[in-house]
Amino acid sequence: MEEEITQTKVSVPLLTPCNMGNFNLSHRIVLAPMTRTRSYNFIAQPQGILYYSQRTTKGGFLISEASGISETAQGYPHTPGIWTTEQIEAWKPIVKAVHEKGGIFFCQLWHAGRVSNHSFQPNGDPPISCTDKAIRVEHNKAKFSPPRRLTVEETSQVVSDFRVAAKNAVEAGFDGVEIHGANGYLIDQFMKDQVNDRTDEYGGSIENRCRFPLEIVRAVAEEIGAHRVGIRLSPYANYKDSGDSNPDALGLYMAEALNKYSILYCHVIEPRMITQYDKQETKSSLLPMRKAFAGAFIVAGGYNRDDGNEVIGSGGADLVAFGRLFLANPDLPRRFELNSVLNKYDRSTFYTHDPVIGYTDYPFLEDKS
Ligand SMILES: Cc1cc2nc3c(=O)[nH]c(=O)nc-3n(C[C@H](O)[C@H](O)[C@H](O)COP(=O)(O)O)c2cc1C
Repeated sequence: MEEEITQTKVSVPLLTPCNMGNFNLSHRIVLAPMTRTRSYNFIAQPQGILYYSQRTTKGGFLISEASGISETAQGYPHTPGIWTTEQIEAWKPIVKAVHEKGGIFFCQLWHAGRVSNHSFQPNGDPPISCTDKAIRVEHNKAKFSPPRRLTVEETSQVVSDFRVAAKNAVEAGFDGVEIHGANGYLIDQFMKDQVNDRTDEYGGSIENRCRFPLEIVRAVAEEIGAHRVGIRLSPYANYKDSGDSNPDALGLYMAEALNKYSILYCHVIEPRMITQYDKQETKSSLLPMRKAFAGAFIVAGGYNRDDGNEVIGSGGADLVAFGRLFLANPDLPRRFELNSVLNKYDRSTFYTHDPVIGYTDYPFLEDKS
């Protein structure tokens, strides 16, 4: 029996162990960060204990849903924050439950930037961004208010907010943080030349557009140690009207620049994800970034068991993050091990607010033992 299980693991690269810095991971199937809008009034809720612990395995790596770093960071209802004492306290039992099952848990730190509405902002102010240009497309029927362009001085306040949020995450018990530099939110807005229209040291050249993200990386790494810091990037995506004319150059520049800070990992969305949920054929590849970056490399976007195994087996990545499949299959690593059928995800409950339905009620495989 023992031999049988060992053989399964060898033939399933996703199930092989991986040392990521100081963390000894027992497999390479990562819970992707997923906003679930069940954190009422920006505070993580007790139902998160069950949700995250259902998806925890001993030695498994989990990334939390995006968590706002300050009162200007939010853009949707009922997403958690990590800037007040009450928010930190609310995360603690969730992190504890994940640790009790042997999981390694990072908090995704987020600022939505212009992907917000003045109703989420203090005093009903406009959201902040690198620009004052509004988003031209609607997303999830949300209405985004025209943003206010940050001054140079104000950017350092946001950098400082990320630093404090990272400290807060560690206080809540998280093993580290993932800086959300992807998917059209504030950091991505600075990086992308189709959004960033600044003429100061934060706009124009790639170096200038990446200055703000790298200042955040440096500040967060200084605060909690580079060995506990990852970043998520999506150079090829143009979600929420946040595209770039030269994603190859942008991605490569960031991968190389990040090496200076010796952070733990770089987590990148596959170029094939033309929208957040649909993939298409593309000649673009993450391999140049993978080769340039010295730390662990995580890929995400449209993966299943087969191409997940392929990307690990071929050395294209160290870990694969699964979003929707993990959302709908709390025991995804077990199902991949057995190559069993998967539950289908229900898109209609991704962002509803019920503490159970579409959240903690996806069934596990029947335990036949
Ligand atoms: C319900 C839902 C919420 C998401 N929220 C986040 C988020 O908070 N932060 C983030 O970086 N990506 C978020 N994503 C994107 C996922 O992390 C992932 O990149 C995407 O779903 C593609 O991977 P998949 O094909 O494995 O689902 C979300 C995706 C889904 C389906």
